[in-house]
Amino acid sequence: MTQDELKKAVAQAAVEYILPLLEEDTIVGIGTGSTANLFIDELAQHKHLFDGTVASSDASAERLKGHGIPVYDLNSVAGMRVYIDGADESNHYLHLIKGGGAALTREKIVAACAEEFVCIADESKLVNVLGDFPLPVEVIPMARSYVARELVKLGGDPVYREGVVTDNGNHILDVYNLEIVDPIKLENQINSIVGVVTNGLFASRPADVLLLGTQEGVKTLK
Ligand code: A5P
Repeated sequence: MTQDELKKAVAQAAVEYILPLLEEDTIVGIGTGSTANLFIDELAQHKHLFDGTVASSDASAERLKGHGIPVYDLNSVAGMRVYIDGADESNHYLHLIKGGGAALTREKIVAACAEEFVCIADESKLVNVLGDFPLPVEVIPMARSYVARELVKLGGDPVYREGVVTDNGNHILDVYNLEIVDPIKLENQINSIVGVVTNGLFASRPADVLLLGTQEGVKTLK
């Protein structure tokens, strides 16, 4: 199977996974990216089974609305049963790197609100040690150079993602050459730099379940 076929298989598996959770008042959190897009398209066939969604990006919100699926403001919902999203990397503890699509801050907020975080990814995303994928860090624009200097002190090589402005009006630094042996510690260290909004490590709040598309079928890691 191609990578796109693996992504489609995990998107279908994710719908099957959440079907038993859906009730008329259920709110589903929706992530961002190509795998999340495939999930949205599959979920649309079951839109009559649940109340609506909260989206982690303007792009996902538009896709959901295009399918006629209600999208709510996070502040207007009382709770969220499940959040489904892709990842750029996952280790075997389901610590993730996310933010390749620049939606990391809203993704982290929605994930924090969810009772259960189901990550969907093809097998290329599973690694032993996080860090081959450059770690995205969302920064307040005026702090970009300062934060970059602080990231160098932590051993990384930050690169400004030119031309990208997040849904929150901020900039992204992609940090190369980090070998992330302690993801929770590094997540907290980077988040404590003044001017950082958040970083793409999802380790303090990892995924609860990883549905991994492989050539042998979709595997469930917990
Ligand atoms: C968006 O900001 C990211 O966190 C995505 O979830 C991640 O990049 C995965 O994207 P794909 O599903 O397109 O690989």
